[in-house]
Amino acid sequence: MPIFSKIFRLGKMSIRLPYHALRAHRMMRARYWHHQPVVGAIPYELQLHERYWEKRFHLDTGGWVDINFKDGMLYEATPYLLLNDILTHLHLGPQDVFVDLGCGKGRVTCMAARTEVGLVVGIEQDPAFLQQAKQNLSRIPDRKAEVQWHHGLAQDFDFHQSTIVYMFNPFGAETLQKVVDQLEETLHRNPRTIRIVYANPVHQEVLTKTPWLQTTQSWPCAAYAEFTIQPPNPTLVSFWKSK
Ligand SMILES: C[S@@+](CC[C@H](N)C(=O)[O-])C[C@H]1O[C@@H](n2cnc3c(N)ncnc32)[C@H](O)[C@@H]1O
Repeated sequence: MPIFSKIFRLGKMSIRLPYHALRAHRMMRARYWHHQPVVGAIPYELQLHERYWEKRFHLDTGGWVDINFKDGMLYEATPYLLLNDILTHLHLGPQDVFVDLGCGKGRVTCMAARTEVGLVVGIEQDPAFLQQAKQNLSRIPDRKAEVQWHHGLAQDFDFHQSTIVYMFNPFGAETLQKVVDQLEETLHRNPRTIRIVYANPVHQEVLTKTPWLQTTQSWPCAAYAEFTIQPPNPTLVSFWKSK
């Protein structure tokens, strides 16, 4: 039997499944049946999730919007499937305060509010996006966590209660450095473990050279082949923890 396939017998019938079909089957079973953390998507799965979640809750979080803001990146939402995988992986609990830096139209905030997390905070500099985020949240019937909104700059936020900081490439290195400095300052005031999730980690070098942070995991872009990020980067999401 070639190593790239496996034969299954059903009575007198035998079915030969190629390895990638087996892997896809295992991945789907883990994700949808056992609700276990999974990294990766099968073809069309990302698109299906994009349509499903927006329709299910009548949300409007999609699209690309250029933002005219110093050191800010364009608006684009984290793909639902990737977000689901990240949230499952994080095992959020009541002790966690999850902060979405640059929450935009609120997709991440809305989905995090459906977990067992203690508190979700959405921070956004654009008042129109924030308004839309609030509307989107009002359409989520099964939210479990309290949500607070903050109109302002991520680098000015008081992080002293935050335990998880989520970013989907919201800004450049200069702002990211200010955020890291703010986080460090709050560690002196309130010693705790801080976890950082950096999706599309364009300015990851800022975190790499931060002595109080260590990387715990990174997920490759290749795992979610249908989702392309710009500029191309082998890493799609990196996970960090305070030492
Ligand atoms: C790529 S979008 C991410 C949206 C959302 N977090 C998600 O993953 O679906 C980045 C958002 O960050 C916001 N942003 C950029 N710079 C910011 C800053 N300094 N403070 C607060 N928000 C900022 C932008 O307005 C934009 O809505």
